[in-house]
Amino acid sequence: MTHEFDAVIVGAGGAGLYAALEASKTARTAVVSKLYPTRSHTGAAQGGIGAALGNVDEDNPEWHAFDTVKGGDYLVDQNAARILADEAVQAVYDLENRGLPFSRTPEGKIDQRRFGGHTRNFGEAPVHRSCYAADRTGNMILQTLYQQCIKNDVHFFDEFHVVEVIMDGTRAAGIVTFELATGEIHVFKAKAIMFATGGFGRMFKITSNAHANTGDGPALLARAGIPLEDMEFYQFHPTGIRGMGILITEGVRGEGGILKNRSGERFMERYAPTLLDLAPRDMVSRAIMTEIQEGRGMRGDRQIDDWVMLDASHLGREKVYAKIPDIADFCKTYLAVDPAEQPMPVQPTAHYAMGGIPTNVDGQVCTADTVYEGLYAAGECACVSVHGANRLGTNSLVDLIVFGRRAGKHIAEFVRHAPQPTLPADAGKAARERIATLKKTRGAHPGPLYKQMQDIMMSKVGVYRNEPQMKEAVAEINALRQEFANVRVQDGSENYNQEVLGILELENLLDLSLVTAATALNRTESRGGHSREDYPERDDANWLKHSMATLRGGDVAIGYKAVDTSIWEPKPRTY
Ligand code: FUM
Repeated sequence: MTHEFDAVIVGAGGAGLYAALEASKTARTAVVSKLYPTRSHTGAAQGGIGAALGNVDEDNPEWHAFDTVKGGDYLVDQNAARILADEAVQAVYDLENRGLPFSRTPEGKIDQRRFGGHTRNFGEAPVHRSCYAADRTGNMILQTLYQQCIKNDVHFFDEFHVVEVIMDGTRAAGIVTFELATGEIHVFKAKAIMFATGGFGRMFKITSNAHANTGDGPALLARAGIPLEDMEFYQFHPTGIRGMGILITEGVRGEGGILKNRSGERFMERYAPTLLDLAPRDMVSRAIMTEIQEGRGMRGDRQIDDWVMLDASHLGREKVYAKIPDIADFCKTYLAVDPAEQPMPVQPTAHYAMGGIPTNVDGQVCTADTVYEGLYAAGECACVSVHGANRLGTNSLVDLIVFGRRAGKHIAEFVRHAPQPTLPADAGKAARERIATLKKTRGAHPGPLYKQMQDIMMSKVGVYRNEPQMKEAVAEINALRQEFANVRVQDGSENYNQEVLGILELENLLDLSLVTAATALNRTESRGGHSREDYPERDDANWLKHSMATLRGGDVAIGYKAVDTSIWEPKPRTY
């Protein structure tokens, strides 16, 4: 079956929905999502959206932009960071006007809480900048935008998984999708195609990411020959629930929660004397791993899966249940721990990809010398780049809203003049044959490969990295990619075949694991979330540049792109 629209957006998280809302002002717009839209992973974002409203403390978008650049260890494109911080303010008020139920100050303004790395006056002191709806901010964004999209007659294709992008040279022409309910292949033809497919944290064993976060957009584009930017920079959030990785929001520390080691010491005093527990995430995650490696984790055995404690019990029951009600529920459900009374066991959890599909500030996919016509990306799957080597907490939601909206506006204008592209007569044939082969011939089960990939990435391309381990990771992931060729389903049914979906997702994760490990091995310095034991210093002379990685079979070819440092000169980071 072939569908024709002006704009097709893949992914129904915050970026996809905001883009759809804007695009639908002029364009017949479809959103294709492998989930029911309000189940998208944006809904898991808890602690808030950063914007310099100044409702609690004096604040200024310029300070927000500076914090973003410094937090990203100066690999951030600085004019993009200015746009992020400047437009965040209006974006938050737009969401408020569209019905988002923000938490309030006693005078009725949008309330704001502290988050890591956000400061007043270029690093002077922490600032209350995160606008929040208890610990359900992302969920409220999704509900608000979904309702607005329905009102704007956006067409939703729920539970459709994207399997191919159709390019005509450097022009996007369409996508091929797999409908989960029926097993049928659907082709979408559109003047503009946008990817907003989210992250790929499922490549790691311990992750805050949903099962659906398998990097579908970046993997498809990588296989179509489009380079991916800064893929070596993957963020570990300091506080995932021990053993499970489920996110415990930084908002807990923003409200006054404290990290402690096995002797009850507030260890962040030794690592970040000014910002303490609210230093940027890369620093806090490294501090936790160092405590563990030096035997001060709760078990004290120096193993990667040891943990530390996050204590919020001194905040009082009323505050805990008013400000972090979902966290309290998670802890009671999964750990039988009531955070109003006991500390929470936490460990770093794979959380966010700073790198991804390279775009300009209007969401157009581009490299230094090519703009791919009609092809857009925004949100976690994209790299604008506003997060550089380490994203500040709350800036993911800002990124979705600001750049999702900008991409949608650009699409709305683009489709007014662009002709419909032409699709090849056999579009969809390769996908149909591929799925038929997966079902007809016998082969290996994908489960063991998935587990091995996650173990390799967690232990060899995690918080701390070094050359021998990353070399092993590249070789081992490539071996898994070879084995993947023999993987088949055991269940050949047509309706809701989760095994077919799982295999298609695993392929994406394996390809992105290879690109992540290869680019991490290539970058011989430490910067932000990329921390090398064998190259512990940041090296601006050689490495103040974005990497651009092209997947070529089992190899990853790596080129470079300049960083925009036109506003603030790179300096060493202290907090
Ligand atoms: O800690 C958190 O609430 C996560 C926020 C974020 O990743 O921006």
